Amino acid sequence: MTVIPSTKAVPESWAASNDTMLVDRHNRTFTYMRVAVTDRCQLRCIYCMPAEGIDFTPNERLLKSDEILRIIGVGAALGVNKIRFTGGEPLLRADILDLIRGSVSTPGITSVNLTSNGLRVKELASDLAQIGLTGINISLDTLDEAKFAKITRRERLQDVLDGVKAALEVGIPSVKLNVVALKGFNDDELGAFAMLTKDDPVTVRIIELMPFDAHQIWKTGRHMHAGEIQATLEKLFPNLEKATGTPTEHYITRIPGHLGKMAIIPAYTRSLCGNCDRIRITADGCIRNCLYSDNEYSLRDLMREGGTDDDLGRVLRGAMWDKEVDGWASQRAKDTGPDVHHRESMTQIGG
Ligand code: GTP
Ligand code: 5AD
Ligand code: SF4
Repeated sequence: MTVIPSTKAVPESWAASNDTMLVDRHNRTFTYMRVAVTDRCQLRCIYCMPAEGIDFTPNERLLKSDEILRIIGVGAALGVNKIRFTGGEPLLRADILDLIRGSVSTPGITSVNLTSNGLRVKELASDLAQIGLTGINISLDTLDEAKFAKITRRERLQDVLDGVKAALEVGIPSVKLNVVALKGFNDDELGAFAMLTKDDPVTVRIIELMPFDAHQIWKTGRHMHAGEIQATLEKLFPNLEKATGTPTEHYITRIPGHLGKMAIIPAYTRSLCGNCDRIRITADGCIRNCLYSDNEYSLRDLMREGGTDDDLGRVLRGAMWDKEVDGWASQRAKDTGPDVHHRESMTQIGG
Protein backbone atom coordinates (compact mmCIF):
# COMPACT_ATOMS: atom_id res chain seq x y z
CA MET A 1 0.00 0.00 0.00
CA THR A 2 1.22 3.47 -0.76
CA VAL A 3 1.69 5.64 2.28
CA ILE A 4 1.59 9.36 1.61
CA PRO A 5 3.26 11.06 4.53
CA SER A 6 1.25 13.60 6.43
CA THR A 7 2.28 17.16 5.74
CA LYS A 8 2.81 17.59 9.46
CA ALA A 9 5.74 15.20 9.32
CA VAL A 10 8.14 17.56 7.53
CA PRO A 11 11.43 17.23 9.39
CA GLU A 12 12.85 20.42 10.91
CA SER A 13 16.06 19.83 8.93
CA TRP A 14 14.10 20.44 5.74
CA ALA A 15 14.49 24.11 6.34
CA ALA A 16 18.27 23.54 6.52
CA SER A 17 19.06 25.28 3.29
CA ASN A 18 18.26 28.95 3.49
CA ASP A 19 19.50 29.60 0.01
CA THR A 20 17.23 31.33 -2.46
CA MET A 21 18.15 28.68 -5.03
CA LEU A 22 17.60 24.94 -4.86
CA VAL A 23 20.99 23.58 -3.80
CA ASP A 24 22.28 20.44 -2.09
CA ARG A 25 25.02 19.42 0.32
CA HIS A 26 27.17 18.37 -2.63
CA ASN A 27 27.32 21.85 -4.22
CA ARG A 28 24.83 21.16 -6.97
CA THR A 29 22.16 23.65 -8.04
CA PHE A 30 18.83 22.45 -9.40
CA THR A 31 17.30 24.43 -12.22
CA TYR A 32 15.50 21.77 -14.29
CA MET A 33 12.08 20.55 -13.15
CA ARG A 34 10.60 17.38 -14.66
CA VAL A 35 6.88 17.13 -14.08
CA ALA A 36 5.02 13.87 -14.78
CA VAL A 37 1.48 14.91 -15.68
CA THR A 38 -0.18 11.51 -16.12
CA ASP A 39 0.73 7.84 -15.68
CA ARG A 40 -1.39 6.80 -18.67
CA CYS A 41 0.01 5.82 -22.04
CA GLN A 42 -1.28 4.34 -25.31
CA LEU A 43 1.75 2.02 -25.52
CA ARG A 44 2.89 -0.77 -23.22
CA CYS A 45 6.67 -0.80 -23.65
CA ILE A 46 8.02 -4.05 -22.22
CA TYR A 47 10.63 -2.26 -20.06
CA CYS A 48 8.08 0.14 -18.65
CA MET A 49 4.59 -1.28 -18.21
CA PRO A 50 3.00 -4.72 -17.94
CA ALA A 51 0.63 -5.78 -20.76
CA GLU A 52 -2.40 -5.69 -18.49
CA GLY A 53 -3.54 -5.20 -14.94
CA ILE A 54 -2.29 -1.67 -14.42
CA ASP A 55 -3.86 0.46 -11.71
CA PHE A 56 -3.76 3.96 -13.14
CA THR A 57 -3.86 6.77 -10.63
CA PRO A 58 -7.43 8.06 -10.22
CA ASN A 59 -7.83 11.61 -11.53
CA GLU A 60 -8.42 13.17 -8.13
CA ARG A 61 -5.00 11.94 -7.01
CA LEU A 62 -3.25 13.53 -9.99
CA LEU A 63 -2.14 17.14 -9.81
CA LYS A 64 -4.59 19.59 -11.33
CA SER A 65 -3.49 22.16 -13.85
CA ASP A 66 -3.42 25.05 -11.35
CA GLU A 67 -1.50 22.91 -8.84
CA ILE A 68 1.14 22.06 -11.47
CA LEU A 69 1.53 25.71 -12.47
CA ARG A 70 1.73 26.71 -8.84
CA ILE A 71 4.61 24.29 -8.19
CA ILE A 72 6.34 25.57 -11.34
CA GLY A 73 5.92 29.16 -10.12
CA VAL A 74 7.41 28.33 -6.72
CA GLY A 75 10.27 26.46 -8.44
CA ALA A 76 10.91 29.38 -10.79
CA ALA A 77 11.14 31.76 -7.82
CA LEU A 78 13.87 29.41 -6.52
CA GLY A 79 15.85 29.45 -9.76
CA VAL A 80 14.21 26.75 -11.89
CA ASN A 81 14.44 27.82 -15.53
CA LYS A 82 13.75 24.63 -17.49
CA ILE A 83 10.56 22.55 -17.40
CA ARG A 84 9.94 19.14 -18.94
CA PHE A 85 6.50 17.54 -18.96
CA THR A 86 6.70 13.76 -18.96
CA GLY A 87 4.40 10.87 -18.13
CA GLY A 88 3.18 8.38 -19.03
CA GLU A 89 2.34 10.20 -22.19
CA PRO A 90 1.98 13.93 -21.47
CA LEU A 91 0.04 14.59 -24.68
CA LEU A 92 -2.81 12.48 -23.27
CA ARG A 93 -3.50 15.21 -20.73
CA ALA A 94 -6.40 17.31 -22.00
CA ASP A 95 -4.89 20.49 -20.55
CA ILE A 96 -1.34 19.95 -21.83
CA LEU A 97 -1.38 23.00 -24.12
CA ASP A 98 -2.52 25.17 -21.19
CA LEU A 99 0.26 23.73 -19.03
CA ILE A 100 2.83 24.57 -21.70
CA ARG A 101 1.40 28.07 -22.21
CA GLY A 102 1.31 28.67 -18.47
CA SER A 103 4.93 27.55 -18.06
CA VAL A 104 6.14 29.61 -21.02
CA SER A 105 4.64 32.69 -19.43
CA THR A 106 5.98 31.98 -15.91
CA PRO A 107 8.67 34.56 -15.06
CA GLY A 108 12.08 32.89 -14.97
CA ILE A 109 11.15 29.91 -17.15
CA THR A 110 13.18 30.01 -20.35
CA SER A 111 12.76 26.47 -21.70
CA VAL A 112 9.63 24.27 -21.81
CA ASN A 113 9.96 20.73 -23.12
CA LEU A 114 8.09 17.47 -23.57
CA THR A 115 9.14 13.83 -23.49
CA SER A 116 6.56 12.00 -25.59
CA ASN A 117 5.88 8.66 -27.24
CA GLY A 118 5.21 10.62 -30.44
CA LEU A 119 1.74 9.25 -31.19
CA ARG A 120 -0.15 12.55 -30.96
CA VAL A 121 2.68 14.76 -32.16
CA LYS A 122 1.57 14.96 -35.80
CA GLU A 123 -1.84 16.21 -34.73
CA LEU A 124 -0.49 18.75 -32.20
CA ALA A 125 2.86 19.80 -33.70
CA SER A 126 1.85 23.18 -35.09
CA ASP A 127 0.04 24.15 -31.84
CA LEU A 128 3.07 23.08 -29.82
CA ALA A 129 5.42 25.15 -31.94
CA GLN A 130 3.10 28.12 -31.92
CA ILE A 131 2.69 28.27 -28.14
CA GLY A 132 6.46 28.22 -27.66
CA LEU A 133 7.51 24.64 -26.88
CA THR A 134 11.32 24.66 -26.78
CA GLY A 135 11.97 20.99 -27.32
CA ILE A 136 10.48 17.55 -27.73
CA ASN A 137 12.15 14.21 -26.99
CA ILE A 138 10.37 11.36 -28.75
CA SER A 139 10.82 7.72 -27.73
CA LEU A 140 11.63 5.40 -30.62
CA ASP A 141 13.47 2.16 -29.96
CA THR A 142 13.35 0.56 -33.41
CA LEU A 143 12.73 1.45 -37.03
CA ASP A 144 11.30 -2.00 -37.75
CA GLU A 145 7.52 -2.48 -37.60
CA ALA A 146 7.57 -6.04 -36.26
CA LYS A 147 10.07 -5.11 -33.53
CA PHE A 148 8.08 -1.98 -32.68
CA ALA A 149 4.97 -4.11 -32.16
CA LYS A 150 6.97 -6.46 -29.92
CA ILE A 151 8.47 -3.80 -27.73
CA THR A 152 5.47 -1.50 -27.39
CA ARG A 153 2.81 -4.21 -27.79
CA ARG A 154 1.05 -1.90 -30.29
CA GLU A 155 1.32 -1.44 -34.07
CA ARG A 156 1.96 2.29 -34.23
CA LEU A 157 5.45 2.78 -35.70
CA GLN A 158 4.24 4.92 -38.61
CA ASP A 159 2.41 7.29 -36.25
CA VAL A 160 5.63 7.90 -34.31
CA LEU A 161 7.63 8.46 -37.50
CA ASP A 162 4.98 10.90 -38.70
CA GLY A 163 5.23 12.69 -35.35
CA VAL A 164 9.00 13.09 -35.64
CA LYS A 165 8.64 14.42 -39.17
CA ALA A 166 5.95 16.89 -38.11
CA ALA A 167 7.99 18.15 -35.14
CA LEU A 168 10.90 18.90 -37.49
CA GLU A 169 8.65 20.45 -40.15
CA VAL A 170 6.95 22.90 -37.80
CA GLY A 171 10.34 23.96 -36.45
CA ILE A 172 10.19 23.00 -32.76
CA PRO A 173 13.70 24.24 -31.84
CA SER A 174 15.00 20.96 -30.39
CA VAL A 175 13.91 17.51 -31.58
CA LYS A 176 15.53 14.43 -30.05
CA LEU A 177 14.96 10.70 -30.33
CA ASN A 178 15.25 8.53 -27.20
CA VAL A 179 16.38 5.01 -28.08
CA VAL A 180 16.60 2.54 -25.18
CA ALA A 181 19.39 0.09 -26.06
CA LEU A 182 18.22 -3.51 -25.89
CA LYS A 183 20.83 -6.16 -26.58
CA GLY A 184 19.87 -8.69 -29.25
CA PHE A 185 16.96 -6.50 -30.15
CA ASN A 186 18.00 -3.11 -31.51
CA ASP A 187 21.80 -3.13 -31.15
CA ASP A 188 21.93 -3.98 -34.87
CA GLU A 189 20.02 -0.74 -35.61
CA LEU A 190 22.45 1.77 -34.11
CA GLY A 191 23.88 2.49 -37.57
CA ALA A 192 20.42 3.08 -39.02
CA PHE A 193 19.53 5.41 -36.13
CA ALA A 194 22.78 7.31 -36.65
CA MET A 195 21.86 7.86 -40.29
CA LEU A 196 18.73 9.74 -39.18
CA THR A 197 21.11 12.56 -38.17
CA LYS A 198 22.29 13.03 -41.74
CA ASP A 199 19.74 15.46 -43.16
CA ASP A 200 17.83 16.57 -40.05
CA PRO A 201 19.04 18.51 -36.99
CA VAL A 202 17.87 15.75 -34.69
CA THR A 203 19.80 14.35 -31.68
CA VAL A 204 19.65 10.56 -31.41
CA ARG A 205 20.27 9.44 -27.82
CA ILE A 206 21.04 5.83 -27.03
CA ILE A 207 19.91 5.13 -23.45
CA GLU A 208 21.05 2.43 -21.04
CA LEU A 209 18.15 0.24 -19.91
CA MET A 210 17.23 0.85 -16.26
CA PRO A 211 15.61 -1.49 -13.73
CA PHE A 212 12.29 0.33 -13.48
CA ASP A 213 9.60 -2.11 -14.45
CA ALA A 214 7.76 -4.51 -12.20
CA HIS A 215 8.74 -7.49 -14.38
CA GLN A 216 12.44 -6.67 -14.35
CA ILE A 217 13.01 -7.41 -18.04
CA TRP A 218 16.35 -5.77 -17.64
CA LYS A 219 17.55 -8.93 -15.86
CA THR A 220 16.97 -10.98 -19.01
CA GLY A 221 20.25 -10.15 -20.72
CA ARG A 222 18.91 -7.16 -22.67
CA HIS A 223 20.98 -4.56 -20.80
CA MET A 224 23.70 -2.90 -22.87
CA HIS A 225 26.37 -0.95 -20.99
CA ALA A 226 27.25 2.61 -22.10
CA GLY A 227 30.79 1.36 -22.91
CA GLU A 228 29.40 -1.27 -25.29
CA ILE A 229 27.16 1.30 -26.97
CA GLN A 230 30.14 3.61 -27.44
CA ALA A 231 32.33 0.79 -28.82
CA THR A 232 29.58 -0.16 -31.30
CA LEU A 233 29.22 3.44 -32.50
CA GLU A 234 33.00 3.90 -32.82
CA LYS A 235 33.30 0.71 -34.84
CA LEU A 236 30.54 1.84 -37.20
CA PHE A 237 31.78 5.44 -37.47
CA PRO A 238 35.53 5.70 -36.77
CA ASN A 239 35.67 9.43 -37.53
CA LEU A 240 33.08 10.80 -35.08
CA GLU A 241 33.53 14.45 -34.12
CA LYS A 242 32.94 15.77 -30.58
CA ALA A 243 29.79 17.84 -30.03
CA THR A 244 28.06 19.46 -27.05
CA GLY A 245 24.72 18.79 -25.37
CA THR A 246 22.80 18.61 -22.06
CA PRO A 247 23.93 17.21 -18.68
CA THR A 248 22.23 13.81 -19.23
CA GLU A 249 24.07 13.33 -22.49
CA HIS A 250 27.53 11.77 -22.59
CA TYR A 251 29.81 10.93 -25.49
CA ILE A 252 28.10 13.54 -27.63
CA THR A 253 29.23 13.20 -31.23
CA ARG A 254 28.51 14.12 -34.81
CA ILE A 255 29.24 12.19 -37.98
CA PRO A 256 31.22 14.66 -40.11
CA GLY A 257 28.86 16.54 -42.43
CA HIS A 258 25.68 15.43 -40.62
CA LEU A 259 23.18 18.05 -39.42
CA GLY A 260 22.20 16.15 -36.28
CA LYS A 261 24.07 14.67 -33.31
CA MET A 262 24.26 11.47 -31.32
CA ALA A 263 24.70 10.93 -27.59
CA ILE A 264 24.72 8.16 -25.00
CA ILE A 265 22.71 8.44 -21.78
CA PRO A 266 24.39 6.34 -19.05
CA ALA A 267 21.12 6.10 -17.16
CA TYR A 268 22.11 2.89 -15.34
CA THR A 269 25.87 3.46 -14.96
CA ARG A 270 24.97 6.83 -13.42
CA SER A 271 28.15 8.61 -14.44
CA LEU A 272 25.88 11.62 -15.02
CA CYS A 273 24.96 12.20 -11.38
CA GLY A 274 27.77 14.69 -10.63
CA ASN A 275 26.14 17.09 -13.09
CA CYS A 276 22.60 16.44 -11.87
CA ASP A 277 20.51 19.59 -12.13
CA ARG A 278 17.01 18.14 -11.88
CA ILE A 279 14.00 17.88 -9.62
CA ARG A 280 11.22 15.41 -10.28
CA ILE A 281 7.53 15.82 -9.56
CA THR A 282 5.55 12.57 -9.88
CA ALA A 283 2.13 12.38 -11.52
CA ASP A 284 0.50 12.25 -8.09
CA GLY A 285 2.36 15.29 -6.90
CA CYS A 286 5.29 13.94 -4.91
CA ILE A 287 8.75 15.42 -5.05
CA ARG A 288 11.45 12.83 -5.71
CA ASN A 289 15.00 14.11 -5.46
CA CYS A 290 16.56 11.30 -7.52
CA LEU A 291 15.25 8.84 -10.08
CA TYR A 292 16.73 6.03 -7.95
CA SER A 293 15.36 7.28 -4.63
CA ASP A 294 12.15 6.06 -3.03
CA ASN A 295 11.88 8.89 -0.52
CA GLU A 296 9.18 11.32 -1.50
CA TYR A 297 7.12 14.11 -0.08
CA SER A 298 3.64 14.97 -1.26
CA LEU A 299 3.37 18.54 -2.48
CA ARG A 300 -0.19 17.73 -3.53
CA ASP A 301 -1.27 16.96 0.03
CA LEU A 302 0.59 20.00 1.32
CA MET A 303 -1.29 22.22 -1.16
CA ARG A 304 -4.64 20.56 -0.48
CA GLU A 305 -4.14 20.96 3.28
CA GLY A 306 -3.69 24.71 2.82
CA GLY A 307 0.10 24.97 2.55
CA THR A 308 1.42 28.35 1.43
CA ASP A 309 3.92 29.03 -1.34
CA ASP A 310 6.53 29.48 1.39
CA ASP A 311 5.70 26.00 2.72
CA LEU A 312 6.07 24.57 -0.79
CA GLY A 313 9.39 26.35 -1.26
CA ARG A 314 10.66 25.06 2.08
CA VAL A 315 9.79 21.49 1.15
CA LEU A 316 11.37 21.82 -2.30
CA ARG A 317 14.54 23.26 -0.77
CA GLY A 318 14.69 20.64 1.96
CA ALA A 319 14.07 17.73 -0.37
CA MET A 320 16.87 18.83 -2.70
CA TRP A 321 19.21 19.65 0.19
CA ASP A 322 18.82 16.04 1.40
CA LYS A 323 19.76 14.57 -1.99
CA GLU A 324 22.33 11.76 -1.92
CA VAL A 325 25.61 12.19 -3.77
CA ASP A 326 24.57 9.93 -6.67
CA GLY A 327 22.00 7.41 -7.87
CA TRP A 328 23.94 4.53 -6.31
CA ALA A 329 23.76 6.14 -2.86
CA SER A 330 20.06 6.93 -3.42
CA GLN A 331 19.43 3.30 -4.27
CA ARG A 332 21.31 2.14 -1.13
CA ALA A 333 19.28 4.58 0.96
CA LYS A 334 16.02 3.10 -0.36
CA ASP A 335 13.75 1.73 2.35
CA THR A 336 15.58 3.64 5.05
CA GLY A 337 13.94 7.04 4.93
CA PRO A 338 10.74 8.13 6.65
CA ASP A 339 8.73 8.62 3.50
CA VAL A 340 9.38 5.51 1.40
CA HIS A 341 7.16 5.27 -1.64
CA HIS A 342 7.69 2.31 -3.98
CA ARG A 343 6.74 2.78 -7.62
CA GLU A 344 6.01 -0.06 -9.99
CA SER A 345 6.59 1.77 -13.25
CA MET A 346 8.56 4.59 -14.82
CA THR A 347 5.23 6.09 -15.89
CA GLN A 348 4.58 7.24 -12.34
CA ILE A 349 8.07 8.63 -11.80
CA GLY A 350 8.24 10.37 -15.13
CA GLY A 351 11.55 9.04 -16.45
P1 GTP B 1 17.29 16.82 -22.23
O1 GTP B 1 16.83 17.99 -21.48
O2 GTP B 1 16.99 16.92 -23.68
O3 GTP B 1 18.70 16.39 -21.96
O4 GTP B 1 16.35 15.60 -21.77
P2 GTP B 1 16.53 14.52 -20.64
O5 GTP B 1 17.52 13.51 -21.07
O6 GTP B 1 16.76 15.20 -19.36
O7 GTP B 1 15.05 13.89 -20.60
P3 GTP B 1 14.30 12.65 -21.22
O8 GTP B 1 12.95 12.67 -20.59
O9 GTP B 1 14.35 12.67 -22.69
O10 GTP B 1 15.07 11.41 -20.67
C1 GTP B 1 15.96 10.62 -21.43
C2 GTP B 1 16.41 9.40 -20.64
O11 GTP B 1 17.24 9.80 -19.59
C3 GTP B 1 15.27 8.61 -20.04
O12 GTP B 1 15.52 7.24 -20.14
C4 GTP B 1 15.30 9.05 -18.61
O13 GTP B 1 14.74 8.10 -17.77
C5 GTP B 1 16.79 9.23 -18.39
N1 GTP B 1 17.04 10.18 -17.33
C6 GTP B 1 16.53 11.43 -17.25
N2 GTP B 1 16.96 12.01 -16.11
C7 GTP B 1 17.76 11.09 -15.49
C8 GTP B 1 18.45 11.09 -14.25
O14 GTP B 1 18.44 12.04 -13.47
N3 GTP B 1 19.14 9.97 -13.93
C9 GTP B 1 19.18 8.91 -14.73
N4 GTP B 1 19.89 7.86 -14.33
N5 GTP B 1 18.50 8.86 -15.90
C10 GTP B 1 17.80 9.93 -16.27
N1 5AD C 1 15.15 2.24 -18.91
C1 5AD C 1 15.58 3.26 -19.68
N2 5AD C 1 14.78 4.20 -20.20
C2 5AD C 1 13.48 4.08 -19.95
N3 5AD C 1 12.43 4.82 -20.34
C3 5AD C 1 11.30 4.30 -19.81
N4 5AD C 1 11.59 3.20 -19.09
C4 5AD C 1 12.94 3.04 -19.17
C5 5AD C 1 13.84 2.09 -18.63
N5 5AD C 1 13.42 1.07 -17.87
C6 5AD C 1 12.58 5.99 -21.20
C7 5AD C 1 11.56 6.06 -22.30
C8 5AD C 1 11.46 7.53 -22.55
C9 5AD C 1 12.00 8.19 -21.30
C10 5AD C 1 11.04 9.06 -20.58
O1 5AD C 1 12.38 7.15 -20.43
O2 5AD C 1 11.97 5.37 -23.43
O3 5AD C 1 12.25 7.92 -23.66
FE1 SF4 D 1 4.44 4.65 -22.68
FE2 SF4 D 1 6.88 5.74 -22.47
FE3 SF4 D 1 6.22 3.74 -20.86
FE4 SF4 D 1 6.54 3.27 -23.48
S1 SF4 D 1 8.13 4.01 -22.04
S2 SF4 D 1 4.83 2.51 -22.19
S3 SF4 D 1 5.84 5.13 -24.39
S4 SF4 D 1 5.29 5.73 -20.87
